[in-house]
Amino acid sequence: MNARIALVAVSLALSVLIGLTLRGGGDTKSAEKRLVIGFSMDTLKEARWQRDRDYFVAKAKALGAEVLVQSANSDDTRQMQDVQALLSAGVSVLVIVPHNGDAMKKAVELAHEQHVPVIAYDRLITGTDLDLYVSFDPVRIGEVQAQYLVDHLGAQKRIVRIHGANTDQNAHFMKQGQDKVLQPLIASKALMIVHEDWAENWKPEQAKKITNAAITKHGKTIDAVLAANDGTAGGAIQALTEEGLAGKIVVTGQDAELVACQRIAQGSQLMTIYKPLEKLAATAAELAVKLALGRPVVAKGSLNNGKVDVPAVLLDVVVVDKDNLKSTVVKDGFHAEKDVFP
Ligand code: GAL
Repeated sequence: MNARIALVAVSLALSVLIGLTLRGGGDTKSAEKRLVIGFSMDTLKEARWQRDRDYFVAKAKALGAEVLVQSANSDDTRQMQDVQALLSAGVSVLVIVPHNGDAMKKAVELAHEQHVPVIAYDRLITGTDLDLYVSFDPVRIGEVQAQYLVDHLGAQKRIVRIHGANTDQNAHFMKQGQDKVLQPLIASKALMIVHEDWAENWKPEQAKKITNAAITKHGKTIDAVLAANDGTAGGAIQALTEEGLAGKIVVTGQDAELVACQRIAQGSQLMTIYKPLEKLAATAAELAVKLALGRPVVAKGSLNNGKVDVPAVLLDVVVVDKDNLKSTVVKDGFHAEKDVFP
C-alpha cells in the first residue's frame, strides 16, 4: 500500500471508528432533542479568541445547536470547574481550548465517563483518548515562520527565539516545525540562536523580558526575533523600540491581529500568519454537531498526543507581510483597510 492509500485507509477507518465509538447521542431521538454544545475556552484575552467564540456560536446556532461558553482566564483549576459545570448542564459534546493540554486530560476522562465526546479546538489535549482535534496545522506554522525568517535575513544570522506558553502543546509543535528549518543551518553554523525562552501564557510582557535579557547579554548584535505569535512579537518590539532596533531587524508573528497588521504596514514587524478563524470555528461547530448526533466524522489526518493518534482536521494557514496585507486579511474582511493603514 503506498503512503497516500494508507492515509486514506487510516482516515476511513478512523471515521468509521469515530462513528461507532460515539459517546452518547447516537439514537435517532437525539436529533429531536435540544442540542447543546459546551465550549470551554482558556482565555478571551487575545483578540483572536473572541472571534473564535463568536464564529463558533454563530455557526452552531445556524446548525440548530445552542452553545454554553466558559472562559477560564488561564487557570487550570477554573477550566476543570468550567468543564464540570458544562457536563452538569447536560451538554451533548464538549469543545475545549485547553490552557494546559496535559491538565485537561482529566476533563476528557470525566466527559467520557458521562459518554460525552470531546473535541480539542486549536490546541491539542495530550495523554488521553481524545475524540477529535480541529486546528490549523501547528507544525506547519512553525515551519513557515522559520522559513520566512531565514529567507529574509541578510548575511548576519544571530537570532532570538521566543516560544509560546510551555503549557500549550501548540507552542511545542510550532517549535518542532521551526526546528525542521533551523537545525540544519545551526549545524552548519550558518545561523546562531543567541537566546531563547518560553513566554508564560503567551504574555507580551514575558516576551519583552526575554528580549531585554537577550539585549543585555548580546548588545545590539541581534538580527532577528522569531516570535511565536503576535502578542509575543508585540512585547519583543517594545523592547527593540527602547533600544532603537525596531524596524531594523526581522520580527515574526502569528494570528494576524489588528495591531500586528498595523506594525507590518509600518515596518516594525515583518510577517504574521493569518489563520482564517471563521473556517476553523465553522468546521469545529459542524463536527461537534455531527459527533453529538452520532453521525460519522471524516478526519483526514491524525496527530499523536502521547497516548493515541488523535483523528485530526488540520487547516492550512496564510503567510502575511506588507506585500499581501490587502489581498489577504483586508480582502477577507478580517480587518478593515482603514484600520490596518490608519
Ligand atoms: C496558541 C494559538 C496561537 C495563539 C496563542 C495565544 O495556542 O495557536 O494562535 O493565539 O495560542 O493564545
